[in-house]
Parts: sequence; C-alpha cells; structure tokens
Amino acid sequence: MSLDLDFVRAHFPGLKSPWAFFDNAGGSHVLAGVAHRIQEFLLSSPVQHGASYAMSQLGMQRVAEATAAVAALIGAAHREEVVMGPSTTAQLRWLSISLGRTLVPGDEIIVSRTDHDANVSPWLDLQRQGIVIRYWSCNPDTYRLELADLEALLGSRTRLVAVTHCSNILGMINPIREIARRVHAAGALICVDGVAFAPHRRVDVQALGIDFYVFSTYKVYGPHYAVLYGKRAHLRRLPGVNHRFIAEDDLPYKFQPGNVNFELAYGMLGLTEYLQALAEHHQRPADSLAAAAEEAFALFAAHETQIAERLLGYLRQKAGIRIIGEPVADPARRVPTIAFVAQGRNSREIVEAIDPHQIAVRYGDFYAKFLIEDLGLQAQEGVVRVSMVHYNTLDEVDRLLAVLDQVL
Ligand SMILES: Cc1ncc(COP(=O)(O)O)c(C=O)c1O
Repeated sequence: MSLDLDFVRAHFPGLKSPWAFFDNAGGSHVLAGVAHRIQEFLLSSPVQHGASYAMSQLGMQRVAEATAAVAALIGAAHREEVVMGPSTTAQLRWLSISLGRTLVPGDEIIVSRTDHDANVSPWLDLQRQGIVIRYWSCNPDTYRLELADLEALLGSRTRLVAVTHCSNILGMINPIREIARRVHAAGALICVDGVAFAPHRRVDVQALGIDFYVFSTYKVYGPHYAVLYGKRAHLRRLPGVNHRFIAEDDLPYKFQPGNVNFELAYGMLGLTEYLQALAEHHQRPADSLAAAAEEAFALFAAHETQIAERLLGYLRQKAGIRIIGEPVADPARRVPTIAFVAQGRNSREIVEAIDPHQIAVRYGDFYAKFLIEDLGLQAQEGVVRVSMVHYNTLDEVDRLLAVLDQVL
C-alpha cells in the first residue's frame, strides 16, 4: 500500500490553502496533533516543575513522557541523552562551549564546508582559544564529501568532526555510519547536523554510531524547537552549561539552561502519535514506537522518491539547467531537497517569477555559505531550492513544472 495522501494531508491544517508549499527545508507545516498537545500543556499544566503539588508533577510527567517518546523515535539508549533546546543553532553553540572547555591549544576540529553555519561558526569560534580548524570540502564535480579526503585530514590531534547528515542544499545523504567509524578509529568524536535529514528518514543514533546529533523539530512537522542527542558517557563527562550547582550527572538538565520550553517538548508527542497512526492506517502493524517510525519513514521515502524523480527528470532534460546535487532520486543517496541554477540567470529573479503562481519555493545560500562560495554561486544569489516532504503531491510538482516551463 502506497502512502495515503488524503490521510496524510488531513493531519496538516496549514496545507488547506491554494499554495503548493515547497519550502519545507525552511520549516514544514505543523501537525494538528502537535498544536493540540501544546495547547493541552499550556491550558492544564503550565506551572514550574520540581514542586510537590499535583499540577507541577503532571507537567513533569508530561515532559518525561515526551522525552521518552523522542528517545524511542531516534533510537537513543537512554532518555537522559535527549537534550531539548530552542534551536539547532543554540544547541550547537552550547555544545561547543562545553566541549571547548575540554580542549587545549593545538587540538584540531574538522568542519565540513557543506554544512549550514549552525555546525560551523561555533567550532570556528574556538580558534580564539588556539583550536586549529581543518576544512573538509566536497568534490565539486560530484558534490560528494569524499572519505579519502577525510582520511587525509584526520590526525592524532583531531578531537572532533562536524558534518551534516544531509546538506540543506544538495539534499545528499552522507554515509554517517562509515564516517563515524573512521572518526572513532582516529580517536575523535563526531557531531552531526541532522536538520535536513530528520524530516525524511528515520534517525537511529545507535545504528549511526555517532556521538552528538542535532535536529530542529520545526522542520519535522513540529514546533520551533530542537533536539540534541549526546551519548550518555560524553554528556556525563562534559562540563554543563547550566547553573554552577547543577550536578554533573543531572542529565539532560545540565545542558538545558533555564526553564526549557515544556509545552513545545510535550508537543513532540503529536509527531510520534502521527507516525504510529500512519503505520497503523497503512496496515503496517508495529509493536513499538521505533518500529512504527521505521514503517512510516519507509512509506515517506518511497513517495518522496516519486515526487523527487518527477522534478529531477524534468530538470535533467531542460537546457541550461544545472542540478546542484545528485541528479537522480535514489532514496539511499538523496532526499527531495532539490537545488538548481539556470545559466545566465539570477536565482532570485526565477523565484520571484514563480511566487505569483502561489507556489512557495526559495532562493539563496541557506546559510551554507562555504558551499555556495566554493561552488562560485554567490553572484547569481545562490540556488533555487525546491524542498519537498512526504505530504507534497505529484499534482503539486506538475503545477510547478508548468510554471517552470514559462519561467526558465
Ligand atoms: C541544515 C540546517 N542546519 C541547521 C539549521 C539551523 O536550525 P535552527 O533554526 O533550529 O537553529 C538549519 C536551518 O535552516 C538547517 O537547514
């Protein structure tokens, strides 16, 4: 049974509009179930945690329940490994402050030049304390991050490799498990930005074998919030970023400065409930949340491949168009975040010509500044990005193709 789009779209009230929405890598539409959970929390348990009275206890239980669900969703071994925070950018900044305190001058960090700046600036700023940055660039012909190039950068002083699971421009999936194996063999840690991956495929942090993994929930059908996974042994060892008297083993609290946004954390139950309902609706019974998530994301991947191939097939045969990324919709190698440029054309001008047709696409560098610089695309204002997710339809893609026929 293929993905039932009527079932899917009924869960997203925001999609009831004349617009075809293709800016999902910017931020997805939100599940009604997420909004309901947030409202439920705000209207019945909005109080300070840690008190003995019933409403405070209820609030704590709700956040614990949601955190456990997120842990199961991403395959974390322990609930304490799930750190909630305002954004991926903030989570990585705090992680860099903590990790930075354990480093000494001359230690090295490898930073991928395909990453969004959230996984770049926090590490570059450690240069102020004598940390040496080594850059890992993609192959400009294939857009791939080559493992051989990583091997050449890894050394006895490497402490960390910061890399994306999937570029928010190229849409290409990096072989994180294999990268992690090599990083660990060199005695270093790996920090993965999963923001552009998590909306499309199930994240399984243990299978990936990584140390730190971050994603933004507002791109995974949820609220403006972010999840940082850290291996428990690392989180215990690293200095916290919360009040000085928070115990070293008080996880995840020592990495959650201030009162975290409890209602948004609770809202994440709306996502896990959706994945479970979706697996069930498609007659893919699952005996656990993890299994339901596997089934749901497998359905997403199959549908996403169809819609991606419709657009990629069109772009491949169009004269003067360069696809920036993998040109074929192979679900093991890419997600339906598709970027292109047109010869002699400014990307802004193309997008502005599409806007009046009520089709939401976007142009720019998407804060992957190094990648756009390395590809020499600043002068044409970056790429045109069409970023789709499982709720997009072939009809929507066909609407876009009809407009592209006029515009390109
Ligand atoms: C790949 C990637 N990483 C990180 C971020 C930053 O996320 P946040 O807004 O949660 O800081 C984005 C936002 O667009 C992104 O696309």
